[in-house]
Amino acid sequence: MYDDIIIGVLVSGRGTNLQSIIDSIEDGRLNAEIGIVISDNPEAKALDRAEKYDLNNTYIGKEDFATTADYEARMVEVLEENEVELVAMAGFMTFLSSYFIDQYRNRIMNIHPSLLPAFPGPNAQEQALDYGVKISGCTVHFADEGIDSGPVILQEAVPVLEGDTVESLSRRILAEEHRIYPKAIQLFANGRLVVKDGKVEIL
Ligand code: GRF
Repeated sequence: MYDDIIIGVLVSGRGTNLQSIIDSIEDGRLNAEIGIVISDNPEAKALDRAEKYDLNNTYIGKEDFATTADYEARMVEVLEENEVELVAMAGFMTFLSSYFIDQYRNRIMNIHPSLLPAFPGPNAQEQALDYGVKISGCTVHFADEGIDSGPVILQEAVPVLEGDTVESLSRRILAEEHRIYPKAIQLFANGRLVVKDGKVEIL
């Protein structure tokens, strides 16, 4: 149970999930503080959003470090400096190794635009359309060392409609992402997520 949990948000792109976290904090649905926003892309629109709300933010790129270990050690250092208790990946594109995962085991969340374990990896919405599934959605999960794998926290389903494009399906899924990510963070902050045998129990 955290009074006002400090989260670190990892981003790479436009940052609409970061925005939904900011909005939820602002309107009181989420009792949290964003300690730091870290981007692996210096051009990320998410960084502009962080600036706009006066949030601590920084660019840390793997390519600026000699080894993955050095890069991840720096990430951990910055998160610790900012007293981050929960790491929220929100469209973050750099793969994190078991070293990093171990530092924050069951304290790193990720959001993915499919009903995992279906369609992990990039272009999840396109994968869903190519497969022809009739229902897709989004998943918030604790990250483990795999790609888009780890204990599932919350999921929301959306229909795949006749004539859907990647854009229209992505839009429908994104609206649900923006609802369930802040909700999952609030559940964590309230101490209501317990991981047992690789599964999340919501108390
Ligand atoms: C979202 O669809 C998220 O599920 C995926 O990457 C996208 C990020 O979008 N992991 P945004 O940067 O939060 O707008």
